[in-house]
Amino acid sequence: MSTIVEVKDLRKQYNPPDGVTAVRGVSFAIRQGEIFSLLGPNGAGKSTTISMLSCLLSPTSGDAIIDGHSIRQDPKQVKQVIGVVPQEIALYDTISARENLEFWGKMYGLSGATLKERVTEVLNIAGLIERANEKVATFSGGMKRRINIAVGLLHNPKVLYMDEPTVGIDPQSRRRILDTVKELNDQGLTVLYTTHYMEEAEELSDRIGIIDHGKLIAVGTQDELTAMVGQYDTVQLDIGETAEANGTIVSHLGQLEGVHQADGEANHVTVQAEDANAVLPRILQTVAEHGRSIRRIDIQEPNLEAVFLHLTGRALRD
Ligand SMILES: Nc1ncnc2c1ncn2[C@@H]1O[C@H](COP(=O)(O)OP(=O)(O)OP(=O)(O)O)[C@@H](O)[C@H]1O
Ligand SMILES: [Mg+2]
Repeated sequence: MSTIVEVKDLRKQYNPPDGVTAVRGVSFAIRQGEIFSLLGPNGAGKSTTISMLSCLLSPTSGDAIIDGHSIRQDPKQVKQVIGVVPQEIALYDTISARENLEFWGKMYGLSGATLKERVTEVLNIAGLIERANEKVATFSGGMKRRINIAVGLLHNPKVLYMDEPTVGIDPQSRRRILDTVKELNDQGLTVLYTTHYMEEAEELSDRIGIIDHGKLIAVGTQDELTAMVGQYDTVQLDIGETAEANGTIVSHLGQLEGVHQADGEANHVTVQAEDANAVLPRILQTVAEHGRSIRRIDIQEPNLEAVFLHLTGRALRD
């Protein structure tokens, strides 16, 4: 697959020489037809990166080539190739959804029948055709988000940037947006998606860049990234007390088929297994055979949260 977005050592310092350096030399490439996610906590530099790749903010240094055009040299051509769904919703509350789209469509140079057709198409994609003539002020946050996405699609971009498009909306709208992203991608659209939700990055992405404090600290497929934290699932067990020495149950758990290792002290045992769900019944049976009760079970799979913790020493959710 050919590369459609190539980001080369992009940097941004706001208000130099003393201002915040929000992006500190970020490089990555997106292949045509991919969904690439930038996953990172608040303040990581996601929106600053998107703004530079949208030619709305000039980089302090570095460059990016979008479908052959430099964001520094050819911003006009870049803007024709990209669609942008910004983090902050940019809509006029007092006019209808359709009027908002017509306004933005004109900004993109669409007019007449082409404009009308395209507005109807994107309203359909957003699932809002029935509400098209209602004022945006009457819409839920999730619906506004969906119009925001429709705006980004108006001029049929090759690459769509979506900056945290599901923040602060209800689960149903979120589901709908994630499904729309997948459908658009199935039809060939390349997507650059930012989020601080690990689950979204996992569900959507072909590849993921983890961004923290303005730096990309890892890039790869979900499998490549999770391989950094090992291959085993972890099962944590809190078990009830008996007079029996704790070591006995730990060593029995350690010998179970499918268990890699078991460690424990007092009433807390940690079991590492290839597939936690497959060994769980055997674990439960062993605990019962020892006359012990289970107070709490927690299963952790090697996921992006664990990768972030491994790389930064902090939880993504903090
Ligand atoms: N216009 C600005 N002027 C000065 N500093 C800014 C500006 N915009 C962002 N910053 C700072 O740059 C850093 C990165 O911000 P940015 O908005 O790019 O992060 P983000 O990853 O999008 O975060 P969030 O998840 O909160 O949207 C932060 O420290 C932020 O305070
Ligand atoms: Mg942001």
